[in-house]
Amino acid sequence: MPRGRFSLRATLVLFSGVLMGAMLILAGCATEGESDEMSAPAADGAAIVEYVGATDYQNEWQHLPGVEPLYTGGDPHGALLSTYFNAIALQAIEDKSGSIPEGGMVVKENYMPDGTLAAITIMYKAAGYENPQANGWFFLKYAPDGVIEAEGQVPGCTECHSDVQDNDFLFTADVK
Ligand code: HEC
Repeated sequence: MPRGRFSLRATLVLFSGVLMGAMLILAGCATEGESDEMSAPAADGAAIVEYVGATDYQNEWQHLPGVEPLYTGGDPHGALLSTYFNAIALQAIEDKSGSIPEGGMVVKENYMPDGTLAAITIMYKAAGYENPQANGWFFLKYAPDGVIEAEGQVPGCTECHSDVQDNDFLFTADVK
């Protein structure tokens, strides 16, 4: 009899130990998930700079299929370019859905011939943002130290990207 009681107790102790362990692991995962995922930024240059800085886009986002991570570019963007698409933008391109939906973002790193990063240029379909001249794109250019050089409805960006307005203002990827 005492033996039986002992093992019942041992089983209960063991069981609650396993349960607590599982709960700790689950709690750990939940916290990790929260800190990893920053919610999509508003149509605001500083918020986007902060978001991009906190996002591991160089590892988590994609280049277009078949495009080298660092490829030869030209004016005005730079001698060497690296272009990253977030999951929303890439999905729309793969689906040939006609345009990039809200939340889609493209980050382009613009390098000088010697490989120095000169600027970061971004096109972002911010939720609720209105830019009738460029189908809702928010344009952003900033220096590697985060200083913003142009943001929002930037005439220079819009004019040149209007050459490809039938392709939702994108040069590098076909959305149709
Ligand atoms: C004189 C024309 C011109 C101007 C001005 C210009 N771009 Fe571009 N942009 C291009 C070309 C051409 C490409 C494709 C380059 C490549 O091969 O990656 C491009 C590509 C991009 C891309 C990658 C998405 C795409 O279109 O395929 C982003 C993001 C971008 N530009 C942002 C900007 C921003 C922000 C500005 C304004 C600060 C700007 N661009 C001004 C010509 C221009």
